[in-house]
Amino acid sequence: MDSQKVNITELTRKISEKGQVVAKTPSRLNYHFMPQIGWMNDPNGFIKYKGEYHLFYQFYPHGTSWGPMHWGHAKSKDLLHWEYLPVALAPSEAYDCDPNIEGYGCFSGSATTQNDDLVLMYTGDVDSKEIPQTQNIAISSDGINFDKVDLNPVIPNFPKEATKDFRDPKLFKVDDTWYSVIGTHNETLGELALYRSKDLLKWDYLGILAQSNGKQGTMWECPNIILSDKNDFLIVSPMEGTVNQKPIYISGKANLKEPSFKQSGQGILDYGNDFYAPQTMDVDGRHILIAWMSQWFSKMPTADDGWSGAMTIPREVTIKNGRLYQTPIKELETIRVDQLREIKNQEVTHLEQDISEASELKFNLQIPENYAGTIELEIADCEDTTQNCKLTVDLKKSEIILDCSNYSVEQREICKAPYEGTGDTIDFDIFLDTNSIEAFINNGETTITNRIYPEAKLKTMKLVCDNQKPFVVNAFSAWKLD
Ligand code: FRU
Repeated sequence: MDSQKVNITELTRKISEKGQVVAKTPSRLNYHFMPQIGWMNDPNGFIKYKGEYHLFYQFYPHGTSWGPMHWGHAKSKDLLHWEYLPVALAPSEAYDCDPNIEGYGCFSGSATTQNDDLVLMYTGDVDSKEIPQTQNIAISSDGINFDKVDLNPVIPNFPKEATKDFRDPKLFKVDDTWYSVIGTHNETLGELALYRSKDLLKWDYLGILAQSNGKQGTMWECPNIILSDKNDFLIVSPMEGTVNQKPIYISGKANLKEPSFKQSGQGILDYGNDFYAPQTMDVDGRHILIAWMSQWFSKMPTADDGWSGAMTIPREVTIKNGRLYQTPIKELETIRVDQLREIKNQEVTHLEQDISEASELKFNLQIPENYAGTIELEIADCEDTTQNCKLTVDLKKSEIILDCSNYSVEQREICKAPYEGTGDTIDFDIFLDTNSIEAFINNGETTITNRIYPEAKLKTMKLVCDNQKPFVVNAFSAWKLD
């Protein structure tokens, strides 16, 4: 343990030294969480501890591509302004470190508190047939320095029903008992294994809690569970073979005693190309979700500036009509620094507005009676409007389309989502940052998240309906965000 601490002190010094240079590069985001330097993927251990939010993340500090996994660490009072802390976990033990192979390390996991301690549960990966992916515990009494316990691996073997993919433990507590759901699969179906513990060190295997219905992927990564009186929800990041899919939620009823999950529905959490491995935190009566704002194998031009990977804005997850909705957390209102425009109950034919590269556009439109056309929001560099991205709601086809192909650095799928609104108004909340767009439609009924790479800074937006007739803007606000 001590040797790991010494390395971490030196590593922290190097990261902050390089981080000062990276912080000045033009590709940095304004209000999204990013690594100081290097590579970041999944959010891990998202928790409130001693009055502050802690966010850990899959981190490789020695390069801008994935490498032996560490857990990066930051804390915040408002979920928006983060203070970087020393690396919490680095590969150091036989169960999470093997320098003779390429892929190993401290893989994804989650956090809980026990008395005054902050406790992490994570997957140790040494990519070997002899040692499977194992589950491990690390404990901190100061919320900064973590000790891997001597009893590791606390779950040394994968369950008999599963195979060697066995990772990403998500801890949750019911009364005085901890549970952990762990992503795995049988021959062809994604599954979640359920474990129980009274002390976080000795774990009993209870059985397979849930399984894919045959159309939900062949392996489930990064599970989450939301328990509620009526419906329970699982959130998983499915893989189909070796291809990562869009994360889904599955509604149903969980039985933790005799593990089973009776499915009643499912939905795609976010229809964008850059949303993966979401992790939820249950805190002060809210479910807050944050996700990796990227996807495996996508091109990341920010690597030229010394960093790769970012998190989405934190979102509040609510349950309505038996399904999940995601809305930007209310704390985001505190970073609105400049109101660029405000409109109320006005009839317009189209709407144009200069915006900042970090902006929020929030508006509600009256859908003209019997309207079967499109509503289109175009975001562009003002010098060259052929450089743009377009969010279109096609009311005839009941479809939402986010086309960022002009702003992409590679050929990517044009994002399409069903338009599920039934009312006579339509609501948008759009968050733009240096190289990202997150669209929330109809109060979080549908979300679409993409990275975009405009050549110039984003500067204009234009809103048009294609029927050439005036339409009523019930409310429109644009803010610069900081
Ligand atoms: C998901 C994932 C996890 C794994 C981690 C490794 O993005 O593949 O299943 O623990 O990333 O970095």
